[in-house]
Amino acid sequence: MSVHFDWRLAPYDLLASRAHARVLHRAGLLDDTEVERILTALADLDHDAHNGVFRPAAEDEDVHTALERGLLERVGALGGKLRAGRSRNDQIATDLRLYLRDHVRQIVTRIAELESELMAQAERTIEAPAPGLTHMQHAQPIVFAHQLLAHVQAFARDVSRLQDWDVRASVSPLGSGALAGSSLPLDPDAVAKELGFARAAANSLDAVSDRDFAAEFLFAAALIGVHLSRLGEEVVLWATSEFRWVELDDAFSTGSSIMPQKKNPDVAELARGKAGRLIGDLTALLTVLKGLPLAYDRDLQEDKEPVFDAVDTLLLVLPAVSGMIATMTVDVDRLEATAADGYALATDVAELLVRRGVPFRDAHEAVGELVAYCAAKGLDLSEVDDDTLAAISEHLTPDVRGVLSVRGAVEARSAPGGTAPARVAEQLADLRDTVHRQLEWAGTA
Ligand code: ARG
Repeated sequence: MSVHFDWRLAPYDLLASRAHARVLHRAGLLDDTEVERILTALADLDHDAHNGVFRPAAEDEDVHTALERGLLERVGALGGKLRAGRSRNDQIATDLRLYLRDHVRQIVTRIAELESELMAQAERTIEAPAPGLTHMQHAQPIVFAHQLLAHVQAFARDVSRLQDWDVRASVSPLGSGALAGSSLPLDPDAVAKELGFARAAANSLDAVSDRDFAAEFLFAAALIGVHLSRLGEEVVLWATSEFRWVELDDAFSTGSSIMPQKKNPDVAELARGKAGRLIGDLTALLTVLKGLPLAYDRDLQEDKEPVFDAVDTLLLVLPAVSGMIATMTVDVDRLEATAADGYALATDVAELLVRRGVPFRDAHEAVGELVAYCAAKGLDLSEVDDDTLAAISEHLTPDVRGVLSVRGAVEARSAPGGTAPARVAEQLADLRDTVHRQLEWAGTA
């Protein structure tokens, strides 16, 4: 029994059935009247299934048997002719591909929306110096937009991965029958074309056994989950009273039932937590596929629930995260005030010495000594007097203070891909183009 979960494939099964009816007609296996009656009944069934007028019954094993019953109820024994030249094995493989190719476009649209919200926040923070962290320690100042766009880059790769996936998923198994193909004069290429696939499968055995498209989708979904979890984790941190980089909108945070002051970043935490579920879906399918002999085995029925779960999860989480990002307030003053904490401008002093011909190794050592002195005395780098500078290194002349500004430090990092606002603005413009093309690809631009 799988109808309780595979019923959602009904519209795709009916689409494939219509294509199959037409191919049987072209092969002379259904006459003009028969094909018309079947196509009308299938359209009627589609309508009724959509409105819940036709529903799977307790005795229906799966979506295919339920829909065959519906067809037989409408056209009688004639409906039985549709079974010619196909099997549930090639049907289910076709249905799942159709379902996924459709839903991947919905997922891409939701990713593009999230990218757009991150880009809108980036636009507002393109000139906002912020602490840049490595090892969760202050490292070098960046502009906050640079960090937000780093997440957009990851999501843009996710979309590109799904687009690559789509090229490989664009293969129609229909016509493979149970495993060996058909002796009837069917036209798998025509059916493939009608269903929007690039081509028909080259090997009927492979066509009914192959679930690479599902596994590959689940990997892409798991990686989207991982990316959402990394963004979620950052938002959780940013919203703490220790960081106070952002404030989340009330609609995207929840209170505590006991502590009246609490504002918990639940959406960010769920984004982090759902990654576990998506990785689980991938693991579940790979485990089913491992060691499975060709061709079809009923084990393959276990492909669907992980796929549906991953689709449902992404379609739920992506809009929630988009809303959270769209409504979050970034505290640019606090970001700027803390951007130079932790002697984050030390590299700038060292690089200034390098520009003056000092070997980086020596510069690193001198600035390291300067930082240690400041840490011991509780001073900022700019507060050290001239004599102390000179005592640490002859290269530490008073004018090194010129590079001790966060704005100067971010401006200076103007190499391609760097955090200089002008570079970040270019990056943002490129990403806007990319996201526009993603929406066009998904058919929603
Ligand atoms: N419900 C089955 C599945 O999901 C359809 C294919 C069953 N085919 C068979 N010969 N038992 O995989």
